[in-house]
Amino acid sequence: MKNKSLVAIDDLSKEEIIKILDLAEGFEKNPIQNILGKTVVASLFFEPSTRTRLSFESAISRLGGRVIGFSEAANTSLAKGESFKDTILTIANYSDLIVMRHPIEGTARYASEVSPVPIINAGDGANQHPTQTLLDLFSIRKTQGTLENLNIFLVGDLKYGRTVHSLLIAMSQFGASFTFVSPQELQMPKEYKMFLDNLGLKYTEQIELNENLDKADIIYMTRVQRERFSDPLEYEKVKNVYVLRNSMLENTRPNMRILHPLPRVNEIHIDVDPNPKAYYFPQALNGVYTRMAIMASILGFK
Ligand code: CP
Repeated sequence: MKNKSLVAIDDLSKEEIIKILDLAEGFEKNPIQNILGKTVVASLFFEPSTRTRLSFESAISRLGGRVIGFSEAANTSLAKGESFKDTILTIANYSDLIVMRHPIEGTARYASEVSPVPIINAGDGANQHPTQTLLDLFSIRKTQGTLENLNIFLVGDLKYGRTVHSLLIAMSQFGASFTFVSPQELQMPKEYKMFLDNLGLKYTEQIELNENLDKADIIYMTRVQRERFSDPLEYEKVKNVYVLRNSMLENTRPNMRILHPLPRVNEIHIDVDPNPKAYYFPQALNGVYTRMAIMASILGFK
């Protein structure tokens, strides 16, 4: 992966994914490693973030590197009319690696084509969020002991949810079966279903959340994302469609774990939080180790 951008999870082979997860495991055991020296990483967030931005910044600090960047494009010269390309070329002069989140799909790919330094996609619109996927894979492997042949329930906004799109592609390399739980309006797009069809992988679709949960190894909850809807009335119709409650988990498998990329709004009731099957906060911590592994690999330090 040295000097390569990470724009989509498809950029990585199965072997590269496993290598990053193994490296992340090493960082989990030994999280302070001053290996980056005077490396500068630019953190460019054109869209709000808590976990991704701060776990990247935490990962850079733990590796001994420096961070520059912004969390609001309004404070940059883009506000004066500078082009996105000029912005990337300029920041590439000041850094060895660029981590960027942008609301428009394809922006990270475009940046990787014009930038002389590698780009890490920290989420581009409804498209992909590959570093979230790697931390999800780390969390799944850690809790299940394997990534192979698992039953994954993807719940919520499957139409616009970039985390579920990236996770579906990644888990397809490990023979997963999927259950898609969504309202009609937010179903998994056709291209992802065709992708699974072409691989001969199984998926089913259901509207009710409280059905078949006893078959899940992972229940991956997602938020209905207000920011992806052009019509606020459409958002109002579906915003509280699912709420996972502790009482719904009684017959679930002992190994089952609940994941959520976070932030949550109402889709996981707080009465689930004390349940040992709730794994979403440890999952967010795993983001630090995984992002340490990704950056160390791209920068050629591991
Ligand atoms: N999971 C995730 O991308 O969270 P943030 O939007 O807070 O970065």
